[in-house]
Amino acid sequence: MTGFALNPRAVGIEEEGAFAVLDRALALKAAGRPIINLGIGQPDFDPPGHVLEAAAKAAREGPHGYTSPVGMPALREAVAADLTGRFGVGVHADEVVIVPGGKVTIFLAAMLFGGEGAEILYPDPGFPPYREAIAFSGAKAVPYPIREDRDFGFDAEEVLSLVTPATRLVIINSPANPTGGVVPRAELDALAAGLEAHPHVAVLSDEIYSHLVYDDADFASLLAYPSLRDRVILLDGWSKTFAMTGWRLGYGVWPKALVPQIRKIITITHSCVANVAQIAGLAAVTGPREPVERFRRTFAERREAVVAGLNALPGVTCRAPGGAFYAFPNVTGTGLSSAELAERLLEEADIALIPGESFGANGRGYLRLSYAADMAQIEEALARMGEFLAVNGRSKEEAMPGTR
Ligand SMILES: Cc1ncc(COP(=O)(O)O)c(C=O)c1O
Repeated sequence: MTGFALNPRAVGIEEEGAFAVLDRALALKAAGRPIINLGIGQPDFDPPGHVLEAAAKAAREGPHGYTSPVGMPALREAVAADLTGRFGVGVHADEVVIVPGGKVTIFLAAMLFGGEGAEILYPDPGFPPYREAIAFSGAKAVPYPIREDRDFGFDAEEVLSLVTPATRLVIINSPANPTGGVVPRAELDALAAGLEAHPHVAVLSDEIYSHLVYDDADFASLLAYPSLRDRVILLDGWSKTFAMTGWRLGYGVWPKALVPQIRKIITITHSCVANVAQIAGLAAVTGPREPVERFRRTFAERREAVVAGLNALPGVTCRAPGGAFYAFPNVTGTGLSSAELAERLLEEADIALIPGESFGANGRGYLRLSYAADMAQIEEALARMGEFLAVNGRSKEEAMPGTR
């Protein structure tokens, strides 16, 4: 307790579990422990060289003042042109709002659509800020299940069944954190068709991992659905695509009529994004894309190793994720709860992972493993997990009787 009278909604915010694990992992590492961090969701690469050069030049030469609250015109235009090229739908610069990190678009959407009496649907398990931002706005956060037996997608009918007259927004995330699931096009078709009966409902489509899609996963952008075009908010940014998490740069594509509303919220919060970050972002979007493809190929190789390695562990099963850089193994066969397993793997095996329940009640029984670490670390972590489970878990035969 602080002794102050505080806003209960602010006090009620639950901190994102990944940051708590990061703090603990860093503290243990500083104390000399050989921690392997598979907890944090950020690429382990440097941003492309031409991006760093553009930023260094901008730091020297400016501009150094505020920019428009919604972003530099050149950057908004470059983002619009990029999306128009990728998805074949016309996106205009005046629909693009540049923000300090992808997360900010979640907050802005929750502030704009939320409030007392509103309901907002979000995925469970899902990225924790969805639920917290909805609740902070005063709206009711209504979870819809993400299902392992659907390769960590959702059932559109189930989502639609939760829509009420109070529903203002549905949050969709594909490829997803924490599962790596990619929602199949057919399911998005069904969702879009069903939403035609609910014209009062907008959609926030979080596509921050859209450049990290593997094999034949059938990624589709909700921005490209004509029936939803005037009520989709697209969330994307530079963090995952260009390995720029610390640069705090993201964007939303908003229905044009909402941009003045968003602009007002920005002017009472961050005013605008740092010039250097915006100029770096411009270089990233307009420059060569070879580094992005290189990052994707590297993640694809690690994904193979992670999925095979996890499936070889006693009591663990893992679906091959279609996108992002997360695996979400089911650990119910180990005989340990996911919370205990995550805790003990950190304390006893020096591996930082996130328990699935940090992402919602439906995440219980799973761990989130981020494979944004090099192959040697991944192999070492899998070996340590194997040793830990050999002593503390059930044997393969006990975990899955009759499989030998
Ligand atoms: C699903 C999802 N959306 C948005 C974000 C936010 O990204 P940023 O770091 O750009 O705020 C993340 C980051 O982990 C994420 O996993």
